[in-house]
Amino acid sequence: MLCPGLAQRKRVHMPIIVVIDDTQSILQLVSLYLKGAGHQVLTAADGTQGLRVVQENHPDLIITDVMMPGMDGYELTRRLRRDPATARTPIITLTAHSELESKIKAFEAGADDFIPKPFDAGEMVARVNVLLRRAAANATADKGAAPAAAPARKFAHLIAVHSLRGGVGCSTLAVNLGIGLTNLWSEPCLLADFVTTTGQVALMLNLPLKRTWANITHIPLAEFDSQDLDAVITPHVSGLRVLSAPTDAAQSVNLDAARVEKIIELARSRYNYFVTDLPHDFSPVTVAVLNQADEILLVLAPDLASIRAAAATLETYKQFGLPADKIHVLLNWTFAQQGFPRKEIEDALAKPVHFVMPHAPIAFINAINRGAPPLHDKPDDPISPYLEDLAFQVSRAADRNTTPSEPKPAWRRVQKRLATAAPR
Ligand SMILES: Nc1ncnc2c1ncn2[C@@H]1O[C@H](COP(=O)(O)OP(=O)(O)O)[C@@H](O)[C@H]1O
Ligand SMILES: [Mg+2]
Repeated sequence: MLCPGLAQRKRVHMPIIVVIDDTQSILQLVSLYLKGAGHQVLTAADGTQGLRVVQENHPDLIITDVMMPGMDGYELTRRLRRDPATARTPIITLTAHSELESKIKAFEAGADDFIPKPFDAGEMVARVNVLLRRAAANATADKGAAPAAAPARKFAHLIAVHSLRGGVGCSTLAVNLGIGLTNLWSEPCLLADFVTTTGQVALMLNLPLKRTWANITHIPLAEFDSQDLDAVITPHVSGLRVLSAPTDAAQSVNLDAARVEKIIELARSRYNYFVTDLPHDFSPVTVAVLNQADEILLVLAPDLASIRAAAATLETYKQFGLPADKIHVLLNWTFAQQGFPRKEIEDALAKPVHFVMPHAPIAFINAINRGAPPLHDKPDDPISPYLEDLAFQVSRAADRNTTPSEPKPAWRRVQKRLATAAPR
């Protein structure tokens, strides 16, 4: 068995299969067979949920029941075929109706194959593998012939917010970045609170603390899959998805670097953006995230202790071999006056300050007390443009340089500021 870290480095491709059925026992059985055959399986209990799981995960193959409440399997298949992203994804329908008429109906809707219930495990896996091989061969042939039409598989852009000194605004920024990225781009962002000493993220978002990563640290790593991760993710009204930290610090000892690497691996394939709030240290958990991060926001306040901590942090990043181009220094004015000027800080760090966040005590304190970050409920607050622009600037270059097919209001606001040369 590969250790998760190794599997990640080798980027082993395990096909993702979405199974949609309203009968729980069938879902379990099909999942079991497919997992046994080395596939990753995601499940959904009806057509509407199935459509969402497919759109969010770009699976390699879809297996759907036909008779389901709400949207049935035929309608689901037709919708998937209409969407360019899934127009060519293999679809197998799984149904108790073995009559010719339902087979024809399934094929007419756009299904590639048909398995009557009750089914034989060996036959089902064989049919799945045939379709996967065919799809892979078609994709290779397409690559030679024309530019790929299918969207790239997801690989979340990971943004780590870090500082050695606490109280400089890491959690505040991580929360607003998560909402900012969700507001900017078409899909929700995942925000993980990896702070092992009573994380603040859930509090800042006024989220119930029913599920946290402490509920998944006992699952053997080899069995830990995306459904386990999904089960502890809490949605925020903004659309942001949150992996909260337990308030009981005694539970935190069970979070280790291997678990965090596995969470990142699973989250990468399911989200487009992934923001993490980190402990104020260089613990194995912190280092695991920093190593994987695409962007590191090193946060400091304009006071001497903070500047010294930031200088030491930069030195340690260097020792760890973290690429300089992914490190961005953010100067956060957590206090109003008497701070060191930016130029002096840049000289002391021998590095430019990339972002400056102005002092906004009322906005942030109100936000914490109400559990409503400015970017969520106060887009007109003077601090919001700064946070919004920051979210845009740490987005992946490909997204920054492309106009979305359906631009969102936050994206339009950022573009307007960029056009008037007034980005924050
Ligand atoms: N730009 C800012 N202006 C005013 N207060 C801020 C600013 N950024 C953060 N704060 C406040 O600083 C305090 C510490 O922030 P927090 O995000 O908890 O820091 P950390 O996660 O680094 O410990 C909070 O009370 C927060 O409201
Ligand atoms: Mg914090």
